[in-house]
Amino acid sequence: MDCLADWPEPIVRVQSLSDSGATIVPSRYIKPPADRPCFESLPCEVNIPVVDLGDPDAASTVSKACRDWGFFQAVNHGVCRELMNSAREVWREFFHLPMETKQAYSNSPKTYEGYGSRLGIEKGAILDWGDYYYLHFSPPCLKSQAKWPALPVFLRHTVEEYGKQLTKMSERVMELLSLGLGLDRGRLQRGFGGEEVGVCMRVNYYPTCPQPDLTLGLSSHSDPGGITVLLPDDKVKGLQIRHGGGWVTVQPLSDSFIVNVGDQIQVLSNAIYRSVEHRVVVNSTAERLSMAFFYNPRSDLLLGPMPELVNQDRPAMYQPMTFDQYRLYIRKQGPRGKSHVESLKAI
Ligand code: OGA
Ligand code: NI
Repeated sequence: MDCLADWPEPIVRVQSLSDSGATIVPSRYIKPPADRPCFESLPCEVNIPVVDLGDPDAASTVSKACRDWGFFQAVNHGVCRELMNSAREVWREFFHLPMETKQAYSNSPKTYEGYGSRLGIEKGAILDWGDYYYLHFSPPCLKSQAKWPALPVFLRHTVEEYGKQLTKMSERVMELLSLGLGLDRGRLQRGFGGEEVGVCMRVNYYPTCPQPDLTLGLSSHSDPGGITVLLPDDKVKGLQIRHGGGWVTVQPLSDSFIVNVGDQIQVLSNAIYRSVEHRVVVNSTAERLSMAFFYNPRSDLLLGPMPELVNQDRPAMYQPMTFDQYRLYIRKQGPRGKSHVESLKAI
């Protein structure tokens, strides 16, 4: 039987739970105590590094940020501010449409494309407090505007333009990451398979939660792919990054993007750059919307450490695997910290 054909249990929309006015979180969403967010700690003054993508030194600041943090905030990124705002706006409108309109786009674990409320197909798993919409931009054979919401009316047009501008920005980040490894600017792009990269997006919608201290909007995970460019909510914080043994809450600068490297960049760079665990906390007073744009390698290419970065002192740390194989494994399990990339380690 194809275990990815459907979800193991009926899907419950977190938005419906939130809208029902329940004052407690159902047990399916309650995390073990060690995984719960800690709200008592003092507000943290540190923040992730900020990189001006137009600066002549951008390659070295990106490189340092991705070695030390796995994350940075990008300013002067070339994406138009009006587009950032209109993208947020069309998706907010979508999530506020009547439930039956959204249900027409319900997804399955086979492709994840469409309206979803869980990651992973493990029966009885503890779930996250969030709904999402997942769609493809590339390769062209996977892009299907018919699977993007038809409403609100400007959504498809806005998302199309957003995909174009974010692809351009991601290509620039790929160049900076290559230069930061001492390689030519096109090297990582070639390592990703050149033109046939995979580009997709997950719009995350985190409804208000009656007991935010018991659950998470998105469990700790590292992103499986290449690079992620996140447009955070313009008002509500929630993203936390593992750093120095604790969790740092990102304080987004206005009009900036949060960029992080995924597991495939860790593999290609032979762990010079490292994907870093992150998670999302929710709150009781405000919903939160974020858009995670994923720039991934071509999915049928065997990916291992780039030979230029392998030598006697630093042997290849990972066995080659295709992104298709890797993602299948993750799609079955759902978010699990960094256990997936750890399991790729060469023995
Ligand atoms: C993701 C992610 C963070 C956020 O979608 O992979 O980490 O702030 N999102 O929603
Ligand atoms: Ni993520």
